[in-house]
Amino acid sequence: MSRQPQPFAARTLLLGVCGSIAAYKAVYLVRLLTEAGARVQVVMTGAATRFVAPLSFESVSGQPVVTDLYALPANRHIELAETAHAAVVAPATADLLARHASGQADDALSTLLLALRGPLLVAPAMDGGMWEHPATQANVEVLRKRGVTFVGPEHGPLASGLTGPGRMAEPERIVEALLSLLAAPRSAARPQGAVADLSGERVVVTAGATREHLDPVRFLSNPSTGRMGFALAAEAARRGARVTLIAAPSELPTPPGVSRVDVVSAADMRDAVHARLPDATVLLMAAAVADFRPARRHPHKVKKGKAEQSLALERTEDILKGLDAIAPEGLIRVGFAAETRDVLAHARGKLQDKGLHLIVANDVSEPGSGFATDTNRVVLLSRDGAEESLPLLAKSEVAAAVLERVARLRRSG
Ligand SMILES: Cc1cc2nc3c(=O)[nH]c(=O)nc-3n(C[C@H](O)[C@H](O)[C@H](O)COP(=O)(O)O)c2cc1C
Repeated sequence: MSRQPQPFAARTLLLGVCGSIAAYKAVYLVRLLTEAGARVQVVMTGAATRFVAPLSFESVSGQPVVTDLYALPANRHIELAETAHAAVVAPATADLLARHASGQADDALSTLLLALRGPLLVAPAMDGGMWEHPATQANVEVLRKRGVTFVGPEHGPLASGLTGPGRMAEPERIVEALLSLLAAPRSAARPQGAVADLSGERVVVTAGATREHLDPVRFLSNPSTGRMGFALAAEAARRGARVTLIAAPSELPTPPGVSRVDVVSAADMRDAVHARLPDATVLLMAAAVADFRPARRHPHKVKKGKAEQSLALERTEDILKGLDAIAPEGLIRVGFAAETRDVLAHARGKLQDKGLHLIVANDVSEPGSGFATDTNRVVLLSRDGAEESLPLLAKSEVAAAVLERVARLRRSG
């Protein structure tokens, strides 16, 4: 029997479970974490025990579950909190978010969270209305500013029978987010004292290469992997923004704290951007959106013998077209120009035509720059005519530079 990889070997994690229907999924989360080598200490709220019996968690974690602060030996709660490498609350109820945002310590979980030394990941689960309520959003904002990382919630079917935001991120996604959190430098994992200059901003980021299908198994696309857009989403979340990442098909994991919407074609991406725009304050368009698609999409796989020898194409939707009518006042728009010649001239033209505040131009034919690399050499061009050439940088550093300019634009009004 081959042994599974153990990315959490020698790690102790606290898992807080709250009173939500999604509590049953936390049992599977414990299983994934223990299989990956973690020692998991489960802490349940009183409400959580109404949904799932502590015995289920005890069986998969191999540890007694904490439900009652006063049943622990004196000071054991502080020891648990101080020795955990990280904590995750999944599912996190609206109630727990409120209690932790206001610093309450009225049960075992909230007390342990206040005493925690390591980073905290939170996976909310609740009805869409509860998630969108200004009180919950204000609590999320407070916690983000304090350095708490969020994973999800996702859009999808809810226990209420409705579809909307509020569905707990899947356990696999929570594991990925925990891994990134533990791998991140301490300042990034818990940015207390670090820049939170985008808190209050609602950022929409597009990323990756759209696919324009000719038939169910063939499509036109380009080599973009989405790395630049994912780096922007991660950096915006780290700086305190609420981030929605609209991603064309990509293997990349969703950055911690980012809400992801998966799309396929340019038309899907336009619809997703237009649906989220009225609520956005910053739009970062890093996706490599196809300009053309096959004029005809076949419903079934086209057989070799029957394929036409030339492909009729038509233009795809321009995502920026019609945006002015729905863009909220004060929306900061950032575009990307990937070119192979006359890079700056094309970028200047796009900056004007599309009404952007900033454009990030790069020559994708240059080694180490553009598609499918971890680095990029870019020039930042602003509406006021300023041009700034950056050296060859990691995409995460380019993302930090772009968002620094966005924060500056906001400050300058
Ligand atoms: C059937 C049922 C399902 C619930 N699901 C959720 C939920 O998904 N998210 C949530 O925030 N509250 C949910 N609640 C309400 C919480 O259980 C309630 O606010 C409780 O006080 C939370 O306590 P806790 O935060 O200490 O776990 C649900 C209640 C019931 C009866």
